[in-house]
Amino acid sequence: MKRRESQETVPYGEIDTTAILDRKPLGDVVLEVHGLTHWFGDVCVLDGVDLTMREGEVVGLIGPGGVGKSVFVKLCCGLLVPDAGEIHILGKDLLALDDKERQELRTRVGLVFQNYALFDFMTVGDNVAFPMRQRGQASEAEIAAKVQERLSEVDLPKVQHLMPNELSGGMKKRVGLARANINDPEFIFFDDPTAGLDPVTSSKIFNLVRRTQEQRNSTCLVISHDIDRMRPVCDRYVLLYDARVRFQGTEQDAMASSDPIVHEFFRAGMVGRA
Ligand SMILES: Nc1ncnc2c1ncn2[C@@H]1O[C@H](COP(=O)(O)OP(=O)(O)OP(=O)(O)O)[C@@H](O)[C@H]1O
Ligand SMILES: [Mg+2]
Repeated sequence: MKRRESQETVPYGEIDTTAILDRKPLGDVVLEVHGLTHWFGDVCVLDGVDLTMREGEVVGLIGPGGVGKSVFVKLCCGLLVPDAGEIHILGKDLLALDDKERQELRTRVGLVFQNYALFDFMTVGDNVAFPMRQRGQASEAEIAAKVQERLSEVDLPKVQHLMPNELSGGMKKRVGLARANINDPEFIFFDDPTAGLDPVTSSKIFNLVRRTQEQRNSTCLVISHDIDRMRPVCDRYVLLYDARVRFQGTEQDAMASSDPIVHEFFRAGMVGRA
């Protein structure tokens, strides 16, 4: 899309958190994104995106392919720098941090990449251990024990000596989950953790996401096209559309919305419901 002339407001961004707070006690604000804007060349991918998340909350980020979901996550993790906007995560102003501070913050934030992003020259065990070694605070024995624990949690207790190319897609996704969890992160971004997987494996992965979240009360942003399987995991949803937040709220809010685009996304999810 081309650069917008004006910053007109979108009438679908209001959120009522009462329903969520009734269901689940939520903590402090741990992610606050304001006016996030990002361009690639003359294409505006994100145009003033706002998002607030509280501790323990699980938000589903949905939207058409290519809308900017992965870019949003990369910006929030400091892997890309936005053209405009503010990102406050876990009490830190991300864009004001120096390299060392950003590195420290990354050890508190987990990211499950959409395309696995496992290092193909390292064993599975070394891949999972990587963020813990980078943190530099644990002995090799502690790292080995933690790797074993995290791989067992994703039902892969005996794969640490394999290379990534010896794993199936679903196994790689689970290894990605184990790696993202190795430092007990307070905040985890799951970028399409079930893309390309069969329905049974997808359900298992979402169960793992839920189990992980519940065990540690971590805050999670989950990107997926699979609203059916996200349903048991997510407290509410954010719909990115045309570079903006088109809707945010619970599924009930979506059903009550008068926006046909919102209905299209949530109905698509309902079609597959048993
Ligand atoms: N490094 C890059 N350089 C140039 N353009 C990019 C880059 N990364 C992403 N884009 C573009 O930004 C847009 C948003 O990409 P993004 O990967 O965030 O989409 P997405 O919403 O995650 O899509 P999907 O659901 O298919 O994963 C796309 O048009 C993509 O081509
Ligand atoms: Mg993506």
